[in-house]
Amino acid sequence: MSAPAIIGTDLNLAAALLEAGKLVAIPTETVYGLAGNALDTAALAQIFLVKGRPHFDPLIVHIPDVHSVELYASAFPEQARALAAKFWPGPLTLVLPRKNIIPDLVCAGGPSVALRVPNHPLTLELLRKSGLPLAAPSANPFGYISPTRPEHVAAQLGNRISYILDGGPCDIGLESTVVSFAGPKPEILRLGGLAPERIREVIPDISMSLRQSSNPIAPGQLDKHYAPKTKLVLTGNIRQYLSQHKLPQQTALLLFHHGVPEWPSDAQMILSPQGTTAEAAQHLFACMRALDQAGFALILAEQAPETGLGPAINDRLLRASFQETST
Ligand code: TXA
Ligand code: MG
Repeated sequence: MSAPAIIGTDLNLAAALLEAGKLVAIPTETVYGLAGNALDTAALAQIFLVKGRPHFDPLIVHIPDVHSVELYASAFPEQARALAAKFWPGPLTLVLPRKNIIPDLVCAGGPSVALRVPNHPLTLELLRKSGLPLAAPSANPFGYISPTRPEHVAAQLGNRISYILDGGPCDIGLESTVVSFAGPKPEILRLGGLAPERIREVIPDISMSLRQSSNPIAPGQLDKHYAPKTKLVLTGNIRQYLSQHKLPQQTALLLFHHGVPEWPSDAQMILSPQGTTAEAAQHLFACMRALDQAGFALILAEQAPETGLGPAINDRLLRASFQETST
């Protein structure tokens, strides 16, 4: 497809396109998704193609409510039910043993499927109206920064999809937290829009298995992710870093809360004027994109505090800063 995608709020059109096997970008509270019918292998193949995503990286299936879990998962353990009851619809993905109705392409041929009820009124309505489970990775080219506004999707994938459902800017701004119940004990696989302490309210002793690659034969391969084209360096102490390093003239600062008065004001962005990790998360990807497009030679980013959504923000910044040449 080469005509630019239409951006709009027509749910009937979006549902009709999905039923016809086409791809539609959907808003969620976390990031925009690149959605296709999760039971249609041709649509799934198209998702991997448009995104440039390797087939070993499995997709999340979006469902309208908790009752749909039993259609796609062969087991729904008590603790997973408790998380779903507390946090769905919301920024939480549950990995559960799959039923055979789920095509291999969704779960990279593995024994589990990732399910999520997103918390966005338009997408919930679309899921109900179409009656389709929607497989949707974040709607960005593989490895790049995730989109949190419809314009972000249009700028990068606009010529390759049929329709972008406009749900405005995303409330949370980070992908969902992924919790797996596919192994012997529950594990957090990806930090995201639901803080780990919220999950510990339900499962106090849950463990984390974060750096795990989806590809068992190439662990670590997915380390570089969420990455701008511009080189990004991450520091825990911005003032110390500035005093100890000679930086290229065109260096932009990506700051958590406080500006740096002696730095040009048009070369710094503040993630959270209020100083909260939730606000910083909401702005993170849009700020990274804006700095990436402004033509700076370097982005120097400051870590967020390690509370609330801070660890998830720092995870994204760390992966964005990863250098392919480093070991
Ligand atoms: O917030 C989100 O999760 C967004 C919106 C659109 O819902 N989606 C998203 O999808 O971030 P994606 O494809 O960019 O990330 C999906 C993550 C990947 O880290 C993938 O490895 C993991 O979920 N995943 C999917 N299925 C899995 C499975 N069966 N087992 C383990 N991890 C799985
Ligand atoms: Mg993604």
